Amino acid sequence: PYQEKVDSIIGLMTLDEKIGQLNLPATGPITTGASKSTDVVKKIEDGKIGGLFNIKDPKNIYEVQKIAVEKSRLGIPLIFGMDVIHGFKTTFPIPLGLSASWDMEMIEKTAQIAANEASANGINWTFSPMVDISRDPRWGRISEGNGEDPYLGGEIARAMVRGYQQDDLSANNTLMSCVKHFALYGAAEAGRDYNTVDMSRIRMYNEYMLPYKAAVEEGVGSVMASFNEIDGVPATGNKWLLTDLLRDDWGFNGFVVSDYTGIYEMRAHGMGDEYDVTSLALKAGLDMDMAGDSPNIKASYTYALKDALDQGKISMSDIDKAVARILTAKYQLGLFDDPYKYCSEERAKKETLTQENRDYARLVGAESTVLLKNDNQVLPLKKSGTVAVIGPLAKAANNMPGTWSVSSDHSKAISVWDGLQQTVGNDVNLLYAKGSNLDYDLELEKRATMFGKDIPRDGRTDKQMLDEALAIAKKADVVVATIGESAEFSGESSSRTDLGIPQVQKDLLQALLKTGKPVVLVLFTGRPLTLVEENETVPAILNVWFPGSEAGLSISDVLFGDVNPSGKLTATFPRNVGQVPLFYNHKNTGRPLGNREGKFEKFKTNYLDVRNEPLYPFGYGLSYTTFDYSDVKLDKTSMTDSDTINVSVDVTNSGDYDGKEVVQLYIRDLVGTVTRPVKELKGFQKVFIKKGETKTVSFTISVEDLKFYNSNLDFIAEPGTFHVFVGTNSNTERMKEFELKK
Ligand code: IFM
Repeated sequence: PYQEKVDSIIGLMTLDEKIGQLNLPATGPITTGASKSTDVVKKIEDGKIGGLFNIKDPKNIYEVQKIAVEKSRLGIPLIFGMDVIHGFKTTFPIPLGLSASWDMEMIEKTAQIAANEASANGINWTFSPMVDISRDPRWGRISEGNGEDPYLGGEIARAMVRGYQQDDLSANNTLMSCVKHFALYGAAEAGRDYNTVDMSRIRMYNEYMLPYKAAVEEGVGSVMASFNEIDGVPATGNKWLLTDLLRDDWGFNGFVVSDYTGIYEMRAHGMGDEYDVTSLALKAGLDMDMAGDSPNIKASYTYALKDALDQGKISMSDIDKAVARILTAKYQLGLFDDPYKYCSEERAKKETLTQENRDYARLVGAESTVLLKNDNQVLPLKKSGTVAVIGPLAKAANNMPGTWSVSSDHSKAISVWDGLQQTVGNDVNLLYAKGSNLDYDLELEKRATMFGKDIPRDGRTDKQMLDEALAIAKKADVVVATIGESAEFSGESSSRTDLGIPQVQKDLLQALLKTGKPVVLVLFTGRPLTLVEENETVPAILNVWFPGSEAGLSISDVLFGDVNPSGKLTATFPRNVGQVPLFYNHKNTGRPLGNREGKFEKFKTNYLDVRNEPLYPFGYGLSYTTFDYSDVKLDKTSMTDSDTINVSVDVTNSGDYDGKEVVQLYIRDLVGTVTRPVKELKGFQKVFIKKGETKTVSFTISVEDLKFYNSNLDFIAEPGTFHVFVGTNSNTERMKEFELKK
């Protein structure tokens, strides 16, 4: 609908102004002078900037917008982007944690709240959702995604895009969403961030692309290209990816932005000089250059595109196409009608970090926790007696929002200690000791403090800290050990090869166990960890990820049973790093193991030193209650591609608490023209069941659920036998068989 308007503006633009629209500098509060690019104000006046990102404060943004609208020749408004990843000021759990809620309505609402807060604060574009499938917990950014499963990842992608954009991008309380990192960023070799990706098309299509595609189908306004290469060409300059697949096959018609200096980085990838890489990107379909506007960089649209045009490497129509897409987005956001509509200081004050939003974040934090172990019903705790809260993360409030929480107000986050004081402080005698530093390795600690969120190192010796902790533990009825990773141990540029809890904290935990007191491990992590020792020795393990701004309250609610945990893992927890990549939807191979106990078998696909199964599988998570499943029931045992099969189970809450259960449905296609995974998630429902009650949970299988990409990359279902499994996690063996007939 904006084509005519867009064309007429382009008709008025100089070449510099056109290139300006493609320029997205990174900047702080530029009107007060702090900026990573140079001469930003002058460039805005000259029409050489299309948008800014990570600039904060509605007043500030208002002023900058005013420069663009009133001082530049054509008065084209700027677009303001930000990494609003898991909430704006009200911060929700890190995405990997949020995904463990398996609650699509809740996930959508978190995005909606984030959009409402951010849009009141001048932001109209968010670099979220991040939907990169990852099967490698060494990769620090697994914390920012939704785990390993393409089906669940697709559902979450849709929920997030809906939450941000609603059905009206021009409303002043919605954001344009940007799905990232297109594509396959989570498959970096050896889990090392920014590393090479190499993958067959068939794996890409069946196992990695679905969440991006789902976001496109949901109408996402923009896409961010990833740093990695695909088929030997960096995504930033990959025409097959950004045009043939994204636009021609999937029908995406928004705009594509690079990741931070992504175009420039193609020089280091070995794709040529500044003219080569900028033309490669533009011709591939990359519209906006993020953070390229720095005189040190040069290989950017700002500095190189004009010469590339002179050299005949690109055409004016290539530039016009990109400009048109960005102007269209600005129209869609309503910026041409009212460039200041997202800057409302009054709304910002009234609608940001409200009590209502914080209460919701508290609930979401609790709903995202995953109970990994609970022997002898150590949990929930009684609201009486003495509880010792021990560990370096107990008072680490600024760690609670977790990684990529740039807009969060860390000073307002609630630590475990403060949360417990507020909730049970009158009934429970609470004691505290830090117990240890984050790690013995000072250098590692330092490296993980990029955003300064880590825990100040204690001046005392390890022994002094430990002695104090043991003395405190001895006075308590139960010990709550708040340990694990700090916020910046995961996230961007935070890959690890050791997936254990840092050694000093492991030692603290083992010492606490030796006191003979019951110990509850409240585990903070941004990734699956290797927890064999803890699983063997600690009676109760509650994985809380990084729960967000209300962390202490969320954790207290679960510890003391006000919320019954119902989170389920969305990424497999391996036994050791050597098993990685380890994921539930693997192939059978020609030499599968013949036993389920994990016994070693010579000349079969297994290891000498560790069994194949993970410690905690995909979909795993306990509750304070227990759920019993009936056999799987099918309404018929065969279907064609024009009808459906109804699958149902009865789930009984057989324990002592009301609770929620995520009922999961998996399908196995027994024979195919290409090999098929041993199981694939194809449905799930989160149901609330009162204690003693039974609920029937039903699913409908249609031919769409049986389709996959074959070796011609056609999306088809092949007639034959299928197994359908329903259960409490991906290990379920509760199964029935059916046929898809011709
Ligand atoms: O959105 C992010 C991206 O995920 C990683 N590089 C920087 C971008 C903007 O901050």
